[in-house]
Amino acid sequence: MINIVILAAGMGKRMHSDLPKVLHKLAGKPLVSYVIATARELLSDKLCVVYGHGGEQVPTQLAAPDIQFIKQEFQLGTGHAVQQALPFLNEALPTLILFGDVPLFKLSSLQKIIAAAGREKLGIITFNAMDMVGYGHIVRENGKPDGNILAIVEHKDATAEQRAISEVNTGIMVAPTIKLKQWLSALSNNNAQNEYYLTEVIAKAVEDNVEIIATQSEFWETIGVNNKKDLTELERFYQRNLGEALLEKGVTLIDSRRIDIRGNLQCGRDVIIDIDCIFEGDVTLEDGVRIDAHCIIKNAHIAKNSHIKPFCHIEESTVGAASEIGPYARLRPGTELSEEVHIGNFVEVKKSKMGAHSKANHLAYIGDTIIGKRVNMGAGTITCNYDGINKFQTIIEDDAFIGSDSQLIAPVTVGRGATLGAGTTLSKDAPAGQLTVSRVKQVSIADWARPIKK
Ligand code: UD1
Ligand code: MG
Repeated sequence: MINIVILAAGMGKRMHSDLPKVLHKLAGKPLVSYVIATARELLSDKLCVVYGHGGEQVPTQLAAPDIQFIKQEFQLGTGHAVQQALPFLNEALPTLILFGDVPLFKLSSLQKIIAAAGREKLGIITFNAMDMVGYGHIVRENGKPDGNILAIVEHKDATAEQRAISEVNTGIMVAPTIKLKQWLSALSNNNAQNEYYLTEVIAKAVEDNVEIIATQSEFWETIGVNNKKDLTELERFYQRNLGEALLEKGVTLIDSRRIDIRGNLQCGRDVIIDIDCIFEGDVTLEDGVRIDAHCIIKNAHIAKNSHIKPFCHIEESTVGAASEIGPYARLRPGTELSEEVHIGNFVEVKKSKMGAHSKANHLAYIGDTIIGKRVNMGAGTITCNYDGINKFQTIIEDDAFIGSDSQLIAPVTVGRGATLGAGTTLSKDAPAGQLTVSRVKQVSIADWARPIKK
């Protein structure tokens, strides 16, 4: 068991944003939510999140019964931030400090340092890389890689010689809680940033003869987000991993570097995804589904062997097996399509059901409608579902045929097997099996002449 403190109060000056840094999104989720998810995998007695900059946005967005939110009124540094959490910690247990802006830490790396530090030692995680501006450099005895750790010197405070040290601090630390209290109470802010640095506790542990150990992590785990450049780099790295994981499971990606997954994408066998598609929320693609280029699919279920053609936008919808959607189709929330449904270009469907083998191939709006089986919706058909105040339902029964450019003024029902002539404005129910047309009779005037300019 352990205490966990996640620091998330910093203003993130370098992000140039009103949104607190830790709420900026990686693959569609706030940075700090990754840290919280990993922390939850560890056995913790207390899970504290220190917030501050940006007001109540952090606790509002992340509220959960297992999280203790602690406000750091003024952002005076990482050491000061940890100090705010001290009254909430169980002193009998060590404390693990995580940064809300370092999202991709692996659980195994944290378990390793927790085990190595035990109850008495101070543990940090470091990594080796050149030219890490903004990181703390690890100063070791005699400058040897295996020398005892003496201090962490922040980049801004470091001498040219110290800046050349390639071993840098990830920010992650495990320490005995009682010691941590003592060390933090003695911090000074006499440094380049006038902040109370958490990293200063290293030198204090050395004075106290507390053993300091460091474990190493992989480079990408340790990347903290300080600016928008860091954020996109991390996003690309993360997406590349997600793409490669799909390839490993047998999904065909035409270009694994041109896919974005912002949530959970489940794929069956023989799924093909072309370039530049975005998947958000929970999306399932069953066996044999093909997604062409430039589609955006959010919280949707696409059943077996369906084909989504280029430039479709699908949200909170289900598509039945062997259906064909697009190109340029929009399925809005509440769309439920059965098997072998065809939705063509410039067709918008909202909160509507379509039975098996029904089609709307060109330029239509279908809203609040229940459509039966084998129905043909002609080009340019519009369900007029809204009178400016209320929404009304349209029902179209099996085997109906709606002629092109018809308007169906809801509430209205088209009976089984009914046909609407092209251009019909339907304001009353259309009886089953009959042809209904509402159109002015066509006339031709033989002796008519165009006006001539005088
Ligand atoms: C910090 C470390 C540095 C390390 C780097 C790794 C210190 C002094 N420096 O620098 O050694 O290499 O992370 O990414 O610890 N925060 C608060 N309250 C504050 C200040 C910061 O909660 O008053 C939070 C931030 O929201 C952030 C984290 O602490 O999540 C780190 O702060 P940041 O300003 O990003 O520190 P770095 O300069 O990156
Ligand atoms: Mg940082």
